[in-house]
Amino acid sequence: MDRLVVTGGTRLHGSVRISGAKNSALKLMAASLLAEGETVIENVPHIADCLTMAEVLDRLGAGASWEGSSLRIDASGALEVETPYELVSQMRASIVVLGPLLARQGRARVAMPGGCNIGSRKIDLHLKGFERMGARFSYDHGFLNATAPSLRGAMISLDFPSVGATENILMAAVGATGTTVIENAAREPEIQDLAAMLVQMGAKIDGAGSTTMEIHGVDGFTAVRHRVIPDRIEAGTFAIAVCATGGSVTIEEGRAEHLDLVLDKLGEAGATVEAKDRSVRVEMSERPRQIDLVTLPFPGFPTDLQPQMMALLAAARGTSIVTENVFESRFMFVDELNRMGADIRTEGHHAVIRGVDRLSAAPVRALDIRAGAAMVIAALAADGTTDIADIHHVDRGYEDLEGRLTSLGAEVRREPSPWPAER
Ligand code: EPZ
Repeated sequence: MDRLVVTGGTRLHGSVRISGAKNSALKLMAASLLAEGETVIENVPHIADCLTMAEVLDRLGAGASWEGSSLRIDASGALEVETPYELVSQMRASIVVLGPLLARQGRARVAMPGGCNIGSRKIDLHLKGFERMGARFSYDHGFLNATAPSLRGAMISLDFPSVGATENILMAAVGATGTTVIENAAREPEIQDLAAMLVQMGAKIDGAGSTTMEIHGVDGFTAVRHRVIPDRIEAGTFAIAVCATGGSVTIEEGRAEHLDLVLDKLGEAGATVEAKDRSVRVEMSERPRQIDLVTLPFPGFPTDLQPQMMALLAAARGTSIVTENVFESRFMFVDELNRMGADIRTEGHHAVIRGVDRLSAAPVRALDIRAGAAMVIAALAADGTTDIADIHHVDRGYEDLEGRLTSLGAEVRREPSPWPAER
C-alpha cells in the first residue's frame, strides 16, 4: 500500500483541470444496464471506484472497455443478476445496479454493502421504495435477493433526501408500468446528470433537481453517448487546498453553480473567488479567518467537503464550529488532524475547531476518500514533511492527486508504505 510524502509551506499557483464526477459516473455506468446496446460514457475519471464499477458490469455480462477517458459498455446480451461480495464490499455504490436490474430483468442478487468509516450506510430507503413498486426481498449468506415480476409506478416519499436511494429508485421507475412520484428527492447535480442521460435514453422524467420527481415508465431504452459533469467535490477540494496554502489557482471545468455555498464560505474565510463560465479562480493571500458551517443535502454545504474544510479551519484565525448533519460519524479523522497539532473537540454532530498558528508534520493515515484529502490539505500547509499512509482510500476518488498538486508547485511524492496497510 502506498503513502504520500508531503512537505508543507509552498503556496499553490497555476491551473488544474477537474475530472468527471465520480458520484455521477458510477450511476451513469449502472444506468447503461437498461439499454440493449453500446453506451459510451465520456469524461469518466480513471479512479479505483470506476474500475470497480466497470468490473461489476463485466460480471453482470455487460462488457465495459476503456477508450481513454471514455467507457464503452455493451449491455446487448442477456445479463447475469448477481454482484459478488468482494466487489460490493470494496464499493457500496455497487448497490445502485439494483434499480436497473429490477427494471430490465425483474430480479437481482446483490451482496449487502458493509458500513464504512463514515457511518452505517443503510439502504432501507432504497428497499422501501422498491417495495412500494412491487419488489419483494429475501436474504441469504449476506446477499439480498430482489424479485419484481412487474414493477409498477408508486408514490414514494423519502424520509431523508438520500442521493443513492433517489438514484436507485429513479433507475427502476423509468422502466416501471405507470407513474412514480418521488417526494423529498435528493437534488444533487449528479442526480440531474443521471436524469439527463436517462431522458436521452428515452425515459420520461420531470422535476430532476427539485424535491419532487415524476417519472412515467417506458418500455425499452436506447444506448446513448453521454459526458459526465465535472466533479464539484474535486473542484472544491482544490479550492480549499489553495486557501490553506495561500496562492492563486484556476480550476478548469469547475462549475461555480455547483459550488455556490462552498465558494461563499471560502470568501468568508478571506479568499478572493472569480467565477467564469468554465472555470473558477481562487486566490488567498492571508491566513484564513474562522467560519461556521453546517453540512446539508444539496444545495446545502456538501458533507464531502466537510473534512477538507476542517483541515483548513484547523489553522485559521479564531474558533470555528462545524456541524455534520448527513453522516452519523464523519469526524473519525479529527484524531489524525489533532496529531498534527490541531485543537479540535467533537461532541456528537458538532466540532469546535480552535485555530492554531500552524499545524506540524506527523505520520498520519487516510481513513476514507475525503478524510484522506483533508490530511493532504493539512500536510500542504503544515510545518515539515508529513507521511500519509493508506493513500489507496484517496485513489478511490481522486485521479493522480499528487501529480496535479505537484503541477501547482506542491512538494508531494508517492512512496511504497513501510507499514502494514490498515484494512
Ligand atoms: C452519496 O452516498 C455519495 N456517494 C457520498 O459520497 C455522499 O457523501 C452522499 O451521497 C451524500 O451526499 C456516491 O454517490 C457514490 P445518502 P449515498 O444515501 O448515496 C442515510 C464520497 O466521498 N441513509 O445520501 O450513500 C445514510 O446513512 C462519498 O464521494 C439511510 O439512512 O448517501 C446517510 O446518513 C462519501 N438509509 C445519509 O442517509 C438509506 O437507505 C445520506 O446518505 C440511504 C441513506
